[in-house]
Amino acid sequence: PITVALILAAGSGSRVGGDIPKQFRPVRGKPMLRHSYEALSAHPSISKVYVAIGAGQEAEAFAALHGLPAAIFVQGGATRRESVRLGLKAIATDGDADRILIHDAARPFLPSTVIDDLIKALDEAPGAVPALPVVDSLSRGDQNLSETVDRAHLWRIQTPQAFAFADILAAHEDWTGDEPTDDARMLMARGGQVRIVPGSEALNKFTFSTDFAGSTMPSFRSGN
Ligand code: CTP
Ligand code: MG
Repeated sequence: PITVALILAAGSGSRVGGDIPKQFRPVRGKPMLRHSYEALSAHPSISKVYVAIGAGQEAEAFAALHGLPAAIFVQGGATRRESVRLGLKAIATDGDADRILIHDAARPFLPSTVIDDLIKALDEAPGAVPALPVVDSLSRGDQNLSETVDRAHLWRIQTPQAFAFADILAAHEDWTGDEPTDDARMLMARGGQVRIVPGSEALNKFTFSTDFAGSTMPSFRSGN
């Protein structure tokens, strides 16, 4: 089967703020987008890597991926879901993808073992996601805690999320619900099974400006 990847880099990073969207800001010495692009484009099972970018972000995206195997840029949309949908349509037009990994550029550090596990899991189900068990106590409440939530069988879901291409394309075309935070939910809504593979703390998303503290300073750990 032909496996491709779609990296979502069309957001504005409003919660991080700053002059350029977070996916182009440096982390550990490289633009954030470059990290996951390197991991996906270097993986032997992935034949093409598409990158969804926002209007007017071409220069930043080119600069971020300078010198790497050429990315295929596609135009993103106003929401994450719309960026995925537009990306899937472009890939469908392009030809022969059987499987796809959909990944947030905001999760720069992508272990190759996670990619291996996701692709393997697609032999058994049309979807697979990396996830970590919840380790903190969970409760509902407003001012005060009102109800304890049993954390057993609860997961923190990450990306990349892997799918049989035709199934996730159809799921996006049929979706009429509210803005979902990920793609697996759309596959599940039409009865598609989604396997869990071991996630990684390395895959945590950069969401706030504090997520950049420390990781932007390569010398931080050595005490220089
Ligand atoms: N994304 C996208 N297109 C959008 C919105 C988000 O491709 N219209 C991408 C982001 O670039 C990011 C990923 O989806 O890699 C996860 O989204 P999030 O962390 O919410 O990033 P932003 O939407 O850019 O940030 P914010 O919500 O703070 O504005
Ligand atoms: Mg967002």
